[in-house]
Amino acid sequence: VNGKIVIPVVVNVLYRTVAENISDAQIQSQIDVLNKDFTATNPDFANVPAEWSGIKANVDITFELVKINRKATTKTSWGTRDAMKSTKKGGLDPTTPSTTLNFWVCTIGGGILGYAQFPGGSSATDGVVCDSQYVGVTPNSGASYPYNLGRTATHEVGHWMNLRHIWGDASCGNDLVADTPVANTSNFGVPTYPYVSTCLPAHNEMTMNYMDYTDDRGMYLFTNGQKSRMSAIFVSGGARSAFGI
Ligand code: ARG
Ligand code: ZN
Ligand code: CA
Repeated sequence: VNGKIVIPVVVNVLYRTVAENISDAQIQSQIDVLNKDFTATNPDFANVPAEWSGIKANVDITFELVKINRKATTKTSWGTRDAMKSTKKGGLDPTTPSTTLNFWVCTIGGGILGYAQFPGGSSATDGVVCDSQYVGVTPNSGASYPYNLGRTATHEVGHWMNLRHIWGDASCGNDLVADTPVANTSNFGVPTYPYVSTCLPAHNEMTMNYMDYTDDRGMYLFTNGQKSRMSAIFVSGGARSAFGI
């Protein structure tokens, strides 16, 4: 990667209730969180335990809000089968997905906070989805504790940039990143450090990684290995090289 990676973002809001029609300020607060988390300027970055001070990353990617689309709907929940990404299905088609991160805000349902498409998939469904209750930062409006600090989007954008869950979606699984410690499974809440893994050899799990499932206030870093994996998709030959960096 030669130049700076700046990701244009189009936000597509689908709403039935007033609360679902989150404000421009709430959306901007989410963009601000992404910019902090991906440049290591989030205040809690300082809380990364010393054992990982050598691998905690400034991913050095920024986000620019270019447009907010809004559409009223009668749907009470959208599920996870991409209907929100299709105008024909009552949602909103993505805007130039090869060079834009499309971000849908709607009620997903089923307790799902968000979901994302990995690089290499269909452009018609490319982007991230976050439930309207978990976009942006309290107290601007209604982001709901303990997912009220915009980290659902940070996690989903991590997936969109090719990151796997830190536990590799298997018991002591592989996340394809060398410097993230093996984890037994997903962690929730805010585990007390050190959280000793049951995976051998003995080590501490990095429960504060954005790609775990902890509460928003319990997640605050990407590693250098994750940065390399994310950056790789934007270079020539990478799945998102059209972003033109
Ligand atoms: N894909 C995850 C889910 O909806 C998102 C987890 C986000 N975690 C968070 N602390 N915001 O289940
Ligand atoms: Zn995930
Ligand atoms: Ca790893």
